[in-house]
Amino acid sequence: MAIRKSNYESYDYKEFWEDNKRIYEDKSERLALKKMMAGLKTDSRIFLDIGCGYGRLFNEYMNFKNIIMVDYSLKGLKTARDNVRKFLKNDEQKLSSVYFVAANATSLPFKSDCIDFLLTVRVIHHLNSPEKYFNEVCRILRNEGLYFLEFANKRNLKNILRYFIGKMDTSPFNLIPSQIGETILNFHPKYIANFLHERNFIIKRLISVSNFRSELLKRCIGTKFLLLFESMYQNFFSSISIGPSIFLKSVLHKKEAGKNFYKFTDSKINSSNVLSNDNAGKSLSKKYLKINICDILICPCCKKENLLFEKSKIFCTSCKKIFSIEDGIYNFKN
Ligand SMILES: C[S@@+](CC[C@H](N)C(=O)[O-])C[C@H]1O[C@@H](n2cnc3c(N)ncnc32)[C@H](O)[C@@H]1O
Repeated sequence: MAIRKSNYESYDYKEFWEDNKRIYEDKSERLALKKMMAGLKTDSRIFLDIGCGYGRLFNEYMNFKNIIMVDYSLKGLKTARDNVRKFLKNDEQKLSSVYFVAANATSLPFKSDCIDFLLTVRVIHHLNSPEKYFNEVCRILRNEGLYFLEFANKRNLKNILRYFIGKMDTSPFNLIPSQIGETILNFHPKYIANFLHERNFIIKRLISVSNFRSELLKRCIGTKFLLLFESMYQNFFSSISIGPSIFLKSVLHKKEAGKNFYKFTDSKINSSNVLSNDNAGKSLSKKYLKINICDILICPCCKKENLLFEKSKIFCTSCKKIFSIEDGIYNFKN
């Protein structure tokens, strides 16, 4: 199934969030992220946001010492860079450890085993080849690295109800991703879990998010109360994972496959299967070390490390591809 690539170069994604219609979704997502990242040591290592957009979620992970923001859209990255500057109040030292990289999520310009924390929110529904993206995540994440993923859930309560009253033809229960419009795919939680299990990830936590997303509820009850219900019932909805958006926290065990996998059942998810070890990632802590981004970049085309950096150009001496550095953005788009 091929979906049309969304064009974030011409679309104002910032406006999508800033028109005040999605405060409930934005805050619900932050609630989930806070739960997933609580207690993590931020004093070292590398945090990577793939498909960071304009940096909407930057303040949720800004305490990590080395941050890399990746997106395919140069427009998004430029806005992200300006946002980050605002969030960090022009603190030049801190700003020097935030990097901006334009690249395709399915072919990343990073060395293997170099990333400690990886986040992707609202992106995989745009990918024609989620498997290539998952392979890349698995390649660049270190053993025991943490992976935070959000995806649109096709088996959500609204779809289930619409299916049972005959307003939706395709079953929300089958594992095949469902296409919404021309550019978006929704996934069954088990489908995503299979991708992760095949690559030796262990799912530590699942959070069902934006469980009360409805224009009618927003109008009648108001965002404030919806958020109150969201915080009260997020755990309940997570146990059956029927929210429209699912956040997963998983840990990669590169050498230790096949243990303790989070098990999904088709219609009902047993919350007791969710492993509760939220300490993963704490063991990663090490004395603060600022990275030099050039040390971990590789050519996204031939995957060789032979890159030569000049003021505004990056040359791959292996495959002869030329990339650029524009306004502090490492541009590996091709
Ligand atoms: C819906 S926005 C989400 C942005 C951000 N994660 C957030 O939640 O606010 C999707 C982002 O994914 C980026 N994107 C889509 N396909 C991509 C790809 N193949 N590689 C890198 N980024 C991609 C888009 O440019 C866009 O900024």
